[in-house]
Amino acid sequence: MTLPKVIGTNHTVTLTTGKKARVILLNNAATTPPFEKTLKEVNHFLQTYGALHRGAGPHANITYLKIQDALNSIRKFLNLPESHALLFTQNTSSAINLFARLLRLKKSDVLITSAIEHTSNNLPWHYNTEAQVVEVIAHEDGSIDYDDLEKKAAKHGKNLKLITMTGASNQTGYIPDIQKLSKIAHKYNALLFIDAAQLAPHRKIDMKQNGVDALAFSAHKVYAPFGIGVLALPKSMLDTIPPDPGGGSIDMISEKDILWAPPQERHQTGTWNVTGIIALAASCQAIIDASWEAVTRHERELVKYMAEHLPKVPKIIMYIPVEKYLTESRIGTFPFNITGIHHAQLASILEHEYGIETRAGTICNHRLVRRWFNISDAEQKKIEQKIANGDRLASYGIVRASLAIHNTKKDIDMLLSALTEIAKNGSKFQYKPVPHEETFVPITKTK
Ligand SMILES: Cc1ncc(COP(=O)(O)O)c(C=O)c1O
Repeated sequence: MTLPKVIGTNHTVTLTTGKKARVILLNNAATTPPFEKTLKEVNHFLQTYGALHRGAGPHANITYLKIQDALNSIRKFLNLPESHALLFTQNTSSAINLFARLLRLKKSDVLITSAIEHTSNNLPWHYNTEAQVVEVIAHEDGSIDYDDLEKKAAKHGKNLKLITMTGASNQTGYIPDIQKLSKIAHKYNALLFIDAAQLAPHRKIDMKQNGVDALAFSAHKVYAPFGIGVLALPKSMLDTIPPDPGGGSIDMISEKDILWAPPQERHQTGTWNVTGIIALAASCQAIIDASWEAVTRHERELVKYMAEHLPKVPKIIMYIPVEKYLTESRIGTFPFNITGIHHAQLASILEHEYGIETRAGTICNHRLVRRWFNISDAEQKKIEQKIANGDRLASYGIVRASLAIHNTKKDIDMLLSALTEIAKNGSKFQYKPVPHEETFVPITKTK
């Protein structure tokens, strides 16, 4: 079975060195380019684009029918139970914030999250619920401590209302055991919420089979960058007044009363991003058609190849023991550094001199990275002060290479050879720091 084709993988640019090079896309955990099929589907859809829920003309009707089909593809992608609904948001972050508000937790309620979460699955729980937030311990390899989870769940017992955890880490590739999380949550009648931003592009989720009560993910990480996020949740949670009411939320309004629109509609305020839904559905369907088995097999091979070869690069610092990628089912996100080079400068050298896109920094997972660098409280304070004064390069950090469906062993070889060259001979240019943008730029004079 062939894998869906991705746009842009043969794009060539002129590097700062003057050489032409193909852009190597290794920042897929941040965002993915679209599938060719997705773009075609969007183009086709736009020929008869019309008003959804706001008209009944021929194009409005076609749009309505196409959206019904699209919703079915997305439901199939998640294996969403009949009892569940889909709400569309801007991205995963907004979906988690919305879910947090919809839960309407009280002060006496407890929710459990973990120390490996992306800030999108951490801050909403502190700012958009009243509940007590309890955190499960994480190990340095980015895995969570299930004994600690069991203990904390038992301690809070009937006050426990939610376990919320990442489906796959954006930093370490770690995938928690979702069935195990579900069993623990359901033992206490709590819900299991999965931040599936990184899981959705790489593994079959199967909400029904795995007992996931709610989840969020972003279309722009699933080869459909048209500006939507998804919140999948029990329909019963929508029998309430929406936290963000507006156009489309109501059927009637009078002096005294509001007649709310049916539950699912009332929570999708304003005009829907139908192009985004069509694009996401096309990407979901393309993955289903290619089969998860084929996607996972291809990606596992790449992860194995990277894990076997990255540690051989001179002066490389690996933060996750490579055997974790070989013995566990981790997705392909690899944090690393080269001794003696600032992480942001290393990423800049890769971009400017080799056309290789990665990401540098703490990447919304500051606390785990801090542990790897063994930063004391006093050091942390000093760093925070510098950052507050505009020096964002003062932070510790890593470079992250992240793999996706379109990558090949050749892409990995390009990274390995660039890193080896940099480790042995340094950069071809001098670089100057741009602290407020957390980056370095080349001074275009060779050294
Ligand atoms: C695990 C995880 N959760 C949430 C997010 C936030 O996604 P978005 O930027 O689409 O809101 C990301 C983004 O990188 C992520 O990796």
